[in-house]
Amino acid sequence: MSKYITTPIYYVNGEAHIGHAYTTFIADTITRYEKLKGEKTYFLTGTDEHGQKIEESAQKNNKRAQEFADEISATFKNLWDEFEIDYDKFIRTTDAEHKAGVQKAFLAMHAKGDIYKDFYEGHYCVSCETFFPETQLIDGEFCPDCGRTTSVVKEESYFFKLSSYEDRLLKHYEDNPDFILPRSRANEVINFVKGGLRDLSVTRTSFTWGVKMPESLNDDKHVMYVWLDALLNYITALGYGKDDANMDFWPASTHFVGKDILRFHAIYWPAFLMSLDLPLPKHIGAHGWWTRDGEKMSKSKGNVIAPKDVADAYGVENLRYFMLREVPFGQDGDFSQRALIDRINSELSNDLGNLLNRIIGMSGKYSDFEINSKDVIKYHERELDAMNEALGNLDAFMQNMQTHRYLEELWKLFSIGNVAITSFEPWAKMKEGKVDEALATVALVANILAKAAIMLSPVMPKTTHTIADALCFEINTESYNTLVIEKNLLKLFNIKKVPPLFPRVEEPLMPEAPVAQPNAPKVQEKKEKHIIKEEDDNLIEIGQFFETSLKIGTVVEAEEVPKSKKLLKLQVDLGEDSNRQVVAGIKEFYSAESLVGTQVCVVANLKPAKLMGMMSEGMLLAAKDEDGLCLVRPEKPKKAGTPIG
Ligand code: MSP
Repeated sequence: MSKYITTPIYYVNGEAHIGHAYTTFIADTITRYEKLKGEKTYFLTGTDEHGQKIEESAQKNNKRAQEFADEISATFKNLWDEFEIDYDKFIRTTDAEHKAGVQKAFLAMHAKGDIYKDFYEGHYCVSCETFFPETQLIDGEFCPDCGRTTSVVKEESYFFKLSSYEDRLLKHYEDNPDFILPRSRANEVINFVKGGLRDLSVTRTSFTWGVKMPESLNDDKHVMYVWLDALLNYITALGYGKDDANMDFWPASTHFVGKDILRFHAIYWPAFLMSLDLPLPKHIGAHGWWTRDGEKMSKSKGNVIAPKDVADAYGVENLRYFMLREVPFGQDGDFSQRALIDRINSELSNDLGNLLNRIIGMSGKYSDFEINSKDVIKYHERELDAMNEALGNLDAFMQNMQTHRYLEELWKLFSIGNVAITSFEPWAKMKEGKVDEALATVALVANILAKAAIMLSPVMPKTTHTIADALCFEINTESYNTLVIEKNLLKLFNIKKVPPLFPRVEEPLMPEAPVAQPNAPKVQEKKEKHIIKEEDDNLIEIGQFFETSLKIGTVVEAEEVPKSKKLLKLQVDLGEDSNRQVVAGIKEFYSAESLVGTQVCVVANLKPAKLMGMMSEGMLLAAKDEDGLCLVRPEKPKKAGTPIG
C-alpha cells in the first residue's frame, strides 16, 4: 500500500518559523521512514496564497497580491530545498492546475445538491477567515479563536450543506478511532460536531483575491472561500480535476497539521470529500505549538526564530533531532538554546558520536580497521537480545508519530554499546591475549551502530549517511531488511576515519531571545479597550489564557526547606484525591505556620519540577514589588479546587 503524507500549506503572509519547520520535519521523517521500509510514498507541501488576509498583507507591502505571494512562496520553497526536505511536489494555490481542480470540485458538489445560494449575515473574522455565530462571540464582538474584533458582514454567498454530514462524520469518528491523532484530541472535534453544524459559507464577494467561480455558474462576483480552496490542494496536487495522474495515492495516510487547524481538517475536509464521493484520509495528526524560552513567539517581541538561523548555527539535522526528540507528538514544546545544546552534547556527541569514535579508534588499533562479526553471538548473546528487543519496539512508535519515544528507544542501542565497552574492556582483553573476545565486543558495537544508523536515517539522513560511510555499508531498504527485520549481523566492516560528527557546543551560538518585558502600559490600555490589532501579537488569545488552569487551594501543611533561604514546602488541597506538594520561594515573606489554613491561588497544570530535590506540583500566584511579596488570595473563602477565570 502506498503512503501519501502532507504538511499544511503555509500562508504566504510571513516567512517560515520553527513551528512550520517542525511540521515539515515530522512529515519528511515519516515519509523517509516509510520509504526505508520499501513503501511507495508521495510527500506534499506548499503554500496557501489566497484570501483577504494575504490581499491585505500584500497591500501593506505595496505589492500586487500575486507578486507578494510569489516572493514569500519562494522563501518557503528555498528553505525546504536548503534543508533537503524530500518532497515530491510543492503546490501553490495560485497554480493554474490547482485553481481548475477547485472549480471542478465546486461543480461536483453543486451537482450533488450540496451547494446552494443564499445570503449570509454574520460576524466575520478576517484573521481566521471564518464566520462565527453571535452566540460564539466573546462579549458579542470578539473572535472566539483569536480574540480579534469581528465585523458584521452581509453578503450573498454559496453555502455547503455541512449540516447534512453531521451523522456521517460522527459515525466516521466512532468507527475510526485513529482518524484523529493523538486520540486525546478527538473529543474536542466530536463535541464540536455534536453541538450542531451549520452550513458553511464557501464563497465571498467582499474581496477578489481567490479562485474564481466555475464559468458555467456565470456568477463572477464570487470567489472561493480560502479554506475550501486550500483543503482541496491535497487532491489537486495528485491531478484531481486534470488527469488524476497520481490519484492512486489517495486517500492520504496522514495530513500533519497544527492543533489550531484540526477542526478544518477533521470536520470540513471529510465532509467535502464525502460530497465528492472520495475516501477519507486515514489520519489527521495534530501537533502542538512551539514557544521560545517559554514565551509565545511574536514579531513585536522580536523573538520569532527563523529555522534557517538555528540551522546555520547548529546544523539542520541537529535541529531535526532536537525537535522530534523534545516533544511528545501532540503536546506543546519549547525551543531554547540551552535545551538544544544539552541534547547535542549529551545525546548526539556523548552517546552516539563518542561511540563511533571509539569503534574507529579501537578497530584501527586492534585489527587494522577491519572488523569481523564471527564471534559476536558467542560472547554477546545478551546484548544482541537487548538490542533486538529495542529495535523491535521502534515501528509502533513511528506508526503513532511518537517520534520522541522512537528516539528514546533507539538511544537504548547506544547505551547497550557504551555499557558493553565499559564492562567488557576490550583493551584489557587485548592485553590478556583474549583477542577474539576483544574483537567480538568491537564488532558488537559496530553492528549496533550500523543498525541504529539505519533506524536514525529518517531523522538525520545526512549524518547517518556519514556513519554508514565510516562503517562501509549503505543505508537502504535492503540493509533495513537484512540487518533490522531479519536481524542479521553485518559480517565484515572496513572502517574509515571520519571527522567527529557532533562537536560539543560550549555556549549559545545565536543571540538569546530578548528578555520578556512586563506588558508595556500601551499594550495594557489597548487590551482594556479591546482594540486588538494584527501587530500586537504579543497579546494572547483568550483560548491561550484558558490553557492555564488556575485554582483556589487551601494550605494544609507548611514547613521550611532545610538549608534553603527561600523555599517553603506546602501541601495544598486543590479538591483532588490527594494534596499537591508545592515548593514556593516565599520563606522571606511568610512563616510556614502563618500559611496553614489560608487560601492561595495555584497554577494547577504546570509540569511538575524538582526544586532542591523535591517535587513541586504547582505554582502560587504572588505579586512582588520593592515593598516585598504578597500572595494573591480570594477575597472570600472558596471551596478548595474552585477554578479561577
Ligand atoms: N494555510 C493554513 C493551512 C491550510 S492547510 C490546507 C495555515 N497556514 S499557517 O501558515 O498559518 O500555519 C501553518 C501551520 O503552522 C499550521 O499547522 C499551524 O498550526 C502551524 N504553526 C503556526 N505557528 C506554530 C507554532 N508556533 N508552533 C507550531 N506550529 C505552528 O494555517
